[in-house]
Amino acid sequence: MATEFDIRRYGFEVRAAAESDARAVRMLLPKMSQSATCLLAIDRHQHLVIGAAAMTSSCRNQPLLGPGVAIEVIPPCRRHGVGTTLVAGLEHLARQAFAATALYSAQRVDQDSAALEGWQRLGFTPLDTVEEHVLPVDQFEPRLGPLIERMRATGRIPASATIVPLYRVNPAAVLQFHLDHLGGDRGELYRKLRGRGVGAFLPRHSRVLLVDDQIKGCLLAHRVTKQRVCIDANIVDPQLRGGWANVWLKLETLRAGRSLGAREFTFTTFDHYTDTRSFTSKLAGTTVRTTVLMVRSIQQHNSD
Ligand SMILES: CC(C)(COP(=O)(O)OP(=O)(O)OC[C@H]1O[C@@H](n2cnc3c(N)ncnc32)[C@H](O)[C@@H]1OP(=O)(O)O)[C@@H](O)C(=O)NCCC(=O)NCCS
Repeated sequence: MATEFDIRRYGFEVRAAAESDARAVRMLLPKMSQSATCLLAIDRHQHLVIGAAAMTSSCRNQPLLGPGVAIEVIPPCRRHGVGTTLVAGLEHLARQAFAATALYSAQRVDQDSAALEGWQRLGFTPLDTVEEHVLPVDQFEPRLGPLIERMRATGRIPASATIVPLYRVNPAAVLQFHLDHLGGDRGELYRKLRGRGVGAFLPRHSRVLLVDDQIKGCLLAHRVTKQRVCIDANIVDPQLRGGWANVWLKLETLRAGRSLGAREFTFTTFDHYTDTRSFTSKLAGTTVRTTVLMVRSIQQHNSD
């Protein structure tokens, strides 16, 4: 028989999770890593776990400083203030541990989902969105090819600019370019750049833009299925943005992909990637998923 709870009558308490609570935390918050700091909500009558909340061990620092969090209350115990109390507990922990000024959702949430509503009920608001696009390869040549030809004919592309496959370039130089302009985990990136392990960058599909033999752009991709290639990074040197470089880099990567048997490309864009989003719609790309990062600022107290 299902357990009956009467939170209104008996109440609940929130306490730090102990090692012996690891299983309950894993069941309620399966996506949080073991290094997270966890709180549990316990019902005062049967002393059962009715909710959990956790905070990551590292922080985002833009636009506000704060860790990622996750919260879950079991369905029969919702709407009794458990979620709100867990959020208050997380705020307290985050201020103590990091002098945090905000809490972020540890994972992005699907737009228009029940989870997003849950975050909103707890006072979180959308900060930015990530869109996942699919681009069929048959649309780009007639649209981008003539554009690049025009740019070349009018002298906008320097004669010393070339685009080469990733395997022709020193991986350490591409790594440094990636770290300088997009950041990332040095070890993970170097592994992928050297073509090793899960998600390794495809040496023949991925392309690097060189001007006077200096790296000025790269487009790094990995294979999802035989016909689908995912673009992980599309980077152009800030001095060359908004012009020929990005269009040409995309064109050459899509050409390479098509000649190697790819039928479609997938990639993600953030809110500020406005040119990539308009490029996607011009090339008949579709948005297949939109996820949102949620944030809640922490009210500063007089004692702070
Ligand atoms: C989101 C969640 C943690 C909220 O937990 P909870 O214990 O129900 O939270 P509370 O009782 O503190 O309610 C928070 C607010 O939402 C409101 N609320 C809760 N459920 C609601 C519902 N179904 N419809 C409308 N309002 C609702 C409450 O009235 C309260 O508002 P108030 O502060 O103005 O009174 C819980 O619903 C849950 O675990 N959902 C599944 C997991 C999830 O979605 N996680 C992502 C969000 S963290």
